Amino acid sequence: MRKTATLFLSILTLLASFNVNAEDNEMNDKKVLVAYFSATGTTAGVAERLAKATEGDIFAIIPQQPYTDADLDWRNKQSRSSVEMDNVNSRPAITSKVENMSQYNVIFVGFPIWWYREPSIIDTFMESYDFAGKTVVPFATSGSSGMGNSGANMQALAPKAKVYKGKRFPSNVSEDELKKWSAEWL
Ligand SMILES: Cc1cc2nc3c(=O)[nH]c(=O)nc-3n(C[C@H](O)[C@H](O)[C@H](O)COP(=O)(O)O)c2cc1C
Repeated sequence: MRKTATLFLSILTLLASFNVNAEDNEMNDKKVLVAYFSATGTTAGVAERLAKATEGDIFAIIPQQPYTDADLDWRNKQSRSSVEMDNVNSRPAITSKVENMSQYNVIFVGFPIWWYREPSIIDTFMESYDFAGKTVVPFATSGSSGMGNSGANMQALAPKAKVYKGKRFPSNVSEDELKKWSAEWL
């Protein structure tokens, strides 16, 4: 009887350890990319902390034509950013491409909120890859605005991806907070 009980317990322990290993593998299977655009460095800081928190690779979305201070003047209706953001079809060019996007399962896409949504260069990014079957999670910094329709806009440009609403963070959000937030997709 005792032998049977011991055997039974050993089998249970073995099964439990298989289960733990399976969960571990599931977590490690997700390959993460943190891609971001940042005109003045704020979103870049958050992106770097998020990449550490998720143990992901990082990719800077760099405009072929850099944005000058004059380009970023939102008070001027004629400034480059005002003109671009006024036209939903505007697609500013990006300097380089992510190598082997196909290896990633989860792509966090970061940006500053411009006129209550994602900057046009993020639209260029979303149209530049095949995101089929991938999870895309937007994140942003801003003066105070939330994500607005950013997630829905990005979903429309990458219909085969699963694009979440994402979250706007204060510039000083900690790596720890980012770790807790990102865990949902890892
Ligand atoms: C052209 C332009 C438009 C902006 N529009 C908004 C906005 O609609 N709402 C908001 O809260 N902040 C807005 N901002 C402020 C930026 O979102 C904020 O400063 C952001 O943290 C900058 O990030 P970055 O340093 O990564 O570029 C705007 C800034 C610029 C340059």
